[in-house]
Amino acid sequence: MTVCDGTVVCPGSYDPITNGHLDIITRTSEVFERVVVGVVNNPLRKETTLFSAEERKAFIDETTADLANVKTQIFSNLLVEFARELGAKAIVKGLRAISDFEYEFEMAQLNRKLDPGIESIYVIASPHYSFLSSTGVREMATFGGDVSDLVPAPVAAAMTERLSDR
Ligand code: PNS
Repeated sequence: MTVCDGTVVCPGSYDPITNGHLDIITRTSEVFERVVVGVVNNPLRKETTLFSAEERKAFIDETTADLANVKTQIFSNLLVEFARELGAKAIVKGLRAISDFEYEFEMAQLNRKLDPGIESIYVIASPHYSFLSSTGVREMATFGGDVSDLVPAPVAAAMTERLSDR
C-alpha cells in the first residue's frame, strides 16, 4: 500500500533513462498511488536528442515493467498543463546536488505561477547516483566509456549501437 493517494508526474527528457532516474521513479512509486513518467518531446529545443521520444518512452516502459502503478506518456505541452490533463496533484523530480537547486528552484516557481494547484516535490537522489546525468552518460558512451553500471542494460546496448552508427 502506498502512502499518498492520487497521481503524480515524474517529468524529464530521459535521453536516456539512467539508473538514477529509475531510483527516483521507483521510490516515488512506493509513496504515491499512481506515477506517470512524462517524457518531454520539446520541439523548441535546439539540440537534438540521441533517442526519439518514442524510443525514450519504450526504454522507460521496459525498465519499469515490474512497477504496477507506473506508466509512461509523451508530452509536448506545458508541464503543468500535462499534469492537469492527467488530474495529477504534484510534479515529482529528483534533486542531486546544489547545482540542481538553482534550476529546479526557478522551474518550481514558474510552474507554481502557472498553476498554484500543482505542487512541486523533490526527492533527494541516493548518494551513489548523485553524480549521474543523462548528459554525462551520453558523453561517456560517445567516447567509448563503459556505462553498463549507470543505465539499464537495454539502454546501454542501444547506446552502443546508436553511437557506432555516427
Ligand atoms: O532536465 P530535463 O529532464 O530536460 O527537464 C524537462 C522538464 C520538462 C522536466 C523541465 O524542462 C521543466 O520542468 N519544464 C517546465 C517548463 C515546461 O513546462 N516546459 C515545457 C516542456 S515541453
